[in-house]
Amino acid sequence: MVNNWTGELIYEGKAKRVYRVNDEFLVMEFKDEVTAFDGARKEHAPSKGRLAAAQTVFLMGLLGRYGIRNHLVDWDGDRKILVRGLRMIPIEVIVRNYAYGSFLKRMPLMKPMTKFSKPIVEFHLKSDELHDPLITMDDIIEAGLANWGQINEIINTALRVNEVLGNYMVSRGLTLVDFKLEFGSDGSNNLVLADELSGDTMRVLINGRHLDKELFRRGASAMDLVKSYEEMNKLLGIPLNT
Ligand SMILES: Nc1ncnc2c1ncn2[C@@H]1O[C@H](COP(=O)(O)OP(=O)(O)O)[C@@H](O)[C@H]1O
Ligand SMILES: [Mg+2]
Repeated sequence: MVNNWTGELIYEGKAKRVYRVNDEFLVMEFKDEVTAFDGARKEHAPSKGRLAAAQTVFLMGLLGRYGIRNHLVDWDGDRKILVRGLRMIPIEVIVRNYAYGSFLKRMPLMKPMTKFSKPIVEFHLKSDELHDPLITMDDIIEAGLANWGQINEIINTALRVNEVLGNYMVSRGLTLVDFKLEFGSDGSNNLVLADELSGDTMRVLINGRHLDKELFRRGASAMDLVKSYEEMNKLLGIPLNT
C-alpha cells in the first residue's frame, strides 16, 4: 500500500487539494476552509478538514459494505484520504428526497421541504463559472460526457446510495434531504463513486435543524459550522480518531 501521504500537487479545488501519488492513486487533502456561492464566500474553518474527511471515510465505508464501489482506499486519520485515481465524469449528480435549494428556484410551485413521492435524480454540469447548470440526459450524450449505459448505472447507483445513506440517517434520528455525488471510471471502465460525502455535499437535519453547510450559506460563522460538523459526527456515530 502507498502510504507516504504526499505526491505532486495536481489540483487545488475549493474544498480539497489533490496530489498524484502514482498512476493508480491520489491523495485528497480536505482543507480547513469553507466556501459558499461558488467560492464567493470563503472562511478559514479550523478542524473542518478532519471532520469532513472522517465523514467521507465513514460514509464511503458504509456504502462499500453494501457493495457500492467507491474510490476510497485509506485514511491518515487526519485531513488526507488515499483514493483510486479516476477519469472523472464532469457531472454533479444530485439526489433529492425533499423540495429544497435550487429545486425550489426552478419549481416555486412546491412548498419547501415537501417530501417527493419518490427520490429525484438530476444532473448538473460541473462548472463554477456557469453555476453548475441543470442538464438533461440527452445533453450528456450529445456532449459525449457519458454513454447511456453509464447514465443508467449512475442513476441506479445514486438511488442505491440514497437508500443506504437515508436508512442509516433515519436509524440515527437524522433526515437526509439531498446530496451530491461525482463519478469517474477506472482503467477497466468500471463506474466508481468518487469525491466526498460530507456536510459540504449533503443536507442533513436533526429535528428540522441543519447540521450541514446550509448553516454557512445562511450566514453562520465558520466556527459555528465546525461545531455543527462535530455534532453531526457524534450523531452519525463517527469516532473522532481513526
Ligand atoms: N477518485 C478521483 N480521481 C480523480 N479526481 C477526483 C477523484 N475524486 C474527486 N476528484 C476530483 O478532485 C477534485 C476535488 O477537489 P474539490 O475541492 O472538491 O474541487 P472543486 O472545487 O472542483 O469541486 C474535484 O475536481 C473532483 O472532481
Ligand atoms: Mg468539490
